[in-house]
Amino acid sequence: MLPPRLLRRVVLAPLVIALAIALIVLSPLIAVLALTFSLLRRSPSGRLRGLRLLLWPAEPVPGGGRDVAAPSLRRLPCGSDGGQGGGTMTVMTPDQLTKQVLAAYASTPDPRLRQVLTSLISHLHAFAVETRLTRQEWLAGVEFLTATGQKCDDERQEFILLSDVLGFSSLVDLINAADGATESTVLGPFYVPGAPVRAMGEQLGRPEDGSPTLVRGRVTDPAGEPLGGASLDVWQSSSNGLYDTQDPQQPPFNLRGVFVTGPDGAYQFRTVRPASYPVPTDGPVGDMLRGAGRHNWRAAHIHAIVSAPGYRPVTTHIFDAENPYLDSDTVFGVKDSLIRPFRPAGPADPPDVSYVTEMDFVLAAQ
Ligand code: BEZ
Ligand code: FE
Repeated sequence: MLPPRLLRRVVLAPLVIALAIALIVLSPLIAVLALTFSLLRRSPSGRLRGLRLLLWPAEPVPGGGRDVAAPSLRRLPCGSDGGQGGGTMTVMTPDQLTKQVLAAYASTPDPRLRQVLTSLISHLHAFAVETRLTRQEWLAGVEFLTATGQKCDDERQEFILLSDVLGFSSLVDLINAADGATESTVLGPFYVPGAPVRAMGEQLGRPEDGSPTLVRGRVTDPAGEPLGGASLDVWQSSSNGLYDTQDPQQPPFNLRGVFVTGPDGAYQFRTVRPASYPVPTDGPVGDMLRGAGRHNWRAAHIHAIVSAPGYRPVTTHIFDAENPYLDSDTVFGVKDSLIRPFRPAGPADPPDVSYVTEMDFVLAAQ
């Protein structure tokens, strides 16, 4: 028998997925929810009392009344007379409720918002019906999302991490990919804008960061024409698995840099062979991963944002072909086309590097 805490998490995984998707997709709805909850919180008789009364109206209410929010569904059309002095209420079906909610949003003036809301409501309702979601599970999902928000600050974005581990960030990437361009993948939470522009071939980090590695290639358009003036903003963690922003021992902008191609579109830089590292699990996303029995490791990679004037930028990675987490990357970021061998350096390679990897980037016109 699983411990009740773990069981609760496992049982709640689908709920969390749907609620998280809802949250990420549609901030206006979230605003409405937030307003609702803040009103409930402001209720003079306690933080969740109003909510609990709404959920369990049979609970005794001080003063003898019912919660004011509960009766709304009871104003729905009546069916045949059941001998209760005016007709028996028709029992509302989930399908009827969904239609009623959709109708309430059908006049949303902005067409895109209307489309997104309609789809969101349909899928969210279908999810609750399909799983026979209980009130307790719904409330646990709300508490999970609340904790996720509370874990966010200027340096930690737990919602993006949630989106990442649900594969949602990668899905949005796929949907928005440009034809013919290098495949994109997740940005991740550790990008820092404003990295120093470095000379071609320069070292990104310190000797103690790991095995010296040369990364080189070209930036081209889909026809293979070199793109001069293209910019590669690259960053990675040290071999201890930490980015400079997580590790007080590393100087700012360690293992970060911007390289600008010449007319031949070629680039090269020296860095260290990347290491696998764990995503943070000290928040609700960590609870969810544990509940799902998933590990929290990212396949070793180097990040790059490649851009050029007149072309669509690509946010992507170079993955180490020998990494054990390629098939189970915790954020579903791996794409076959982004995996490269990090081969041992040979006599024809610069003597100061131990490994060489080559990666060309293709940008599509805007
Ligand atoms: C990263 O590669 O830096 C990363 C991406 C998604 C979640 C956590 C970390
Ligand atoms: Fe990373």
